[in-house]
Amino acid sequence: MEPAVRIFDTTLRDGEQSPGATMTGPEKLEIAVAIARLGVDVIEAGFPAASLGDFAAVQTIAREVGGSVSRGRKRDAPPTICALARATTADIDRAFEAVREAAHPRIHTFLATSDLHLRHKLRMTRAEVLDRVRVAVTHARSLCADVEFSPEDATRSDPEFLHEVLAVAIAAGATTLNVPDTVGFTTPDEFGALISGICTRVPGIEKAIVSVHCHDDLGMATANTLAGLAAGARQAEVTINGIGERAGNCALEEVVMALATRAKHFGVRTEIDTTQLASVSRLLTAITGIAVPPNKAVVGANAFAHESGIHQDGMLKHEETYEIMRPESVGAQQTRLVLGKHSGKHALKSRLESLGHRLAEGALEEVLIRFKALAEKRREITDADLDAIALSTSREPEALYELTGLQVACGTTGMPTATVRLRDPGGVVHVHAAVGTGPVHAVYRAIEEIVQVPSTLLEFSVRAVTSGIDALGEVSVRVQGDRADRSGRNSIFHGHGADTDVLVASARAYLAALNRLLATGSRQ
Ligand code: KIV
Ligand code: ZN
Repeated sequence: MEPAVRIFDTTLRDGEQSPGATMTGPEKLEIAVAIARLGVDVIEAGFPAASLGDFAAVQTIAREVGGSVSRGRKRDAPPTICALARATTADIDRAFEAVREAAHPRIHTFLATSDLHLRHKLRMTRAEVLDRVRVAVTHARSLCADVEFSPEDATRSDPEFLHEVLAVAIAAGATTLNVPDTVGFTTPDEFGALISGICTRVPGIEKAIVSVHCHDDLGMATANTLAGLAAGARQAEVTINGIGERAGNCALEEVVMALATRAKHFGVRTEIDTTQLASVSRLLTAITGIAVPPNKAVVGANAFAHESGIHQDGMLKHEETYEIMRPESVGAQQTRLVLGKHSGKHALKSRLESLGHRLAEGALEEVLIRFKALAEKRREITDADLDAIALSTSREPEALYELTGLQVACGTTGMPTATVRLRDPGGVVHVHAAVGTGPVHAVYRAIEEIVQVPSTLLEFSVRAVTSGIDALGEVSVRVQGDRADRSGRNSIFHGHGADTDVLVASARAYLAALNRLLATGSRQ
């Protein structure tokens, strides 16, 4: 059998660093369960030293997903649960505290090695870096048998010094050496040469697994990751949908499908259940609000669509003419609708699950009510409608503010005026009227007057979910809190709303984002 490549998923750590990808604890757990079910080897669950919320989320994932009985996982062993730590004793202690209850805990510590970072960011000499790596890895190893070390900005580091640092990390007990292309700077041939140099020249390298971690600033993250694997790396660090800092990380689904589709070429395998890729991708979109572009490889809406006549003709004659992988191999078969007003809760639940939405009982009830209301107006509900409704349904155990009424007056004369009725978390009903430059502005001002959370609306977009005059309107917003949280960030929160009335959809979207801001604030 071909050698195995470990899939290390960092959606919940590096992925969460995407602007607007901030997730609540229960959302992180939901993603971790889905990622574990997918069959990944390692889940990097977060950065426990960053905040109390991050620590608690990592600890819960270590217990619930990394415990000896891992929910719904096909493979017998639970995944390794990893926590990130800067190369300091305090961070490393905190990371271990968070993952210690996992059956397979891992500490991942890192320190930059490029002269650029040493001079301008760390203000450390090379000798000091070597010393810090030795101390940090030794300390991590005294707590945990599985320790990963990353030389941050490895691809812009002097290779000789990089080798020296990695040798020190191995001697101090690191079991995985990860090589990050932190700023997405490298190219496939250059990165392949770097990895093969590490695999052949670093003293003691045979005792460790070499890993690759590529960012997508120049659109080469997947190509660079594959080049690293071809050169001898045996772990790939990736995120679902490629989310992550700036242009993102290498996309899990792209690497996994490249290795599966070109198995003979690469000669390595992964343990991923590829038929779950589409649903995990949708779940992440549902939770973060970060949409996948339609032309995105593997999980984009058009990844298996054939538009031109010549291609359609070829497809009808033989699928392999224009298809290198089957949609069902990634779980993307296009089941068009299906459900109507007589469909029951079970049918709805199973359809939602196949679309990637695993909702708690309360949220499922809410989707059912809204689905039935739409089915009263429309004969058929499509997958896209269901997706939009589920996306705009609160995943929080308790919604903070709830929209219970909305009335808007607008037109060619007079000031657009909105009257909004909201129920607050204590059950008190508030009614407020406001005017604005347009109807949405008026609605948002009325909501702001009631909720009173200092924030800035960064983005507002509206689209029709399906074609036709009776289409659902889907509104997405991004809101930034005006106050920094404990980790010093002004986090960005997304909100989705869907309704046949776009003003109701707009109100729901804004309220969802403000609720998330309030919920996160109250947890820190
Ligand atoms: O990109 C990077 O350098 C990282 C490290 C912490 C591994 O994410
Ligand atoms: Zn990274």
